Amino acid sequence: MARTPYIAGNWKMHLTKRKASALARDVASQQGQASHRKVAVFPTFVHLDHVRRNLKGSNVILGAQNCFGKKEGAFTGEISPYMLRDMGVKVVLIGHSERRHVFGESEAMLFDKVKIALRAKLDVMLCVGETLEEREGGQTFKVLARQLKALKVVKPTQIDRVSVAYEPVWAIGTGKTATPTMAQEAHAECRRQIAGILGEQAAATIPILYGGSVKAANAADLLAQTDVDGALVGGASLSIDDFGPILDAAQH
Ligand code: 13P
Repeated sequence: MARTPYIAGNWKMHLTKRKASALARDVASQQGQASHRKVAVFPTFVHLDHVRRNLKGSNVILGAQNCFGKKEGAFTGEISPYMLRDMGVKVVLIGHSERRHVFGESEAMLFDKVKIALRAKLDVMLCVGETLEEREGGQTFKVLARQLKALKVVKPTQIDRVSVAYEPVWAIGTGKTATPTMAQEAHAECRRQIAGILGEQAAATIPILYGGSVKAANAADLLAQTDVDGALVGGASLSIDDFGPILDAAQH
């Protein structure tokens, strides 16, 4: 089954309101209503509304970088997926390695987040990936299997709202990219694990994006791999000069 190429920009804690709005306009004008690829942007929470307005007229998907695992309550500083949905957000990143490693998010928290985000009618992009130590210790597949278990909470009717981003921690923001062969190997393993959890049909349809120092120079080779369905781009998504050519690489 053909999976539509999916390119996403994770803007992390970058940009000003004005720059985020301008970048949203640039991405929107390059994407327009194109249907041969899906494009999403993930600005910081406080820029969501500005970005949403500047994406109008395009089919660029508005995403958030995180959410809390509860609907509402006394959780100072947290943001409910229902609030995101109410703001016009369509998709949320869950389990980004910076959330896991910098903010100590546990697997149990991520289970809750996936469950409640889907219940709030958001799409979910679950991020997984091993550290350098885990890779060097031959633990990569074991780590992926453990992290993908969060998909156990996905109901059959929710499968079409789920995507996975494989982001090896050692490749994020370091300029070190997984080789296309390494990416393909890890993606194929993710797909095998997804088949075990959600079935073969789900494994064939769920897009698996690669993230970690993706740039114009390596995007096409990564995207050419059978199981690499897209890219989750950090640094190179912050200007249209860098992000535009990556969008162009997703033409097939
Ligand atoms: P870089 O593209 O800056 O390595 O970041 C990848 C990433 O973490 C996207 O979520």
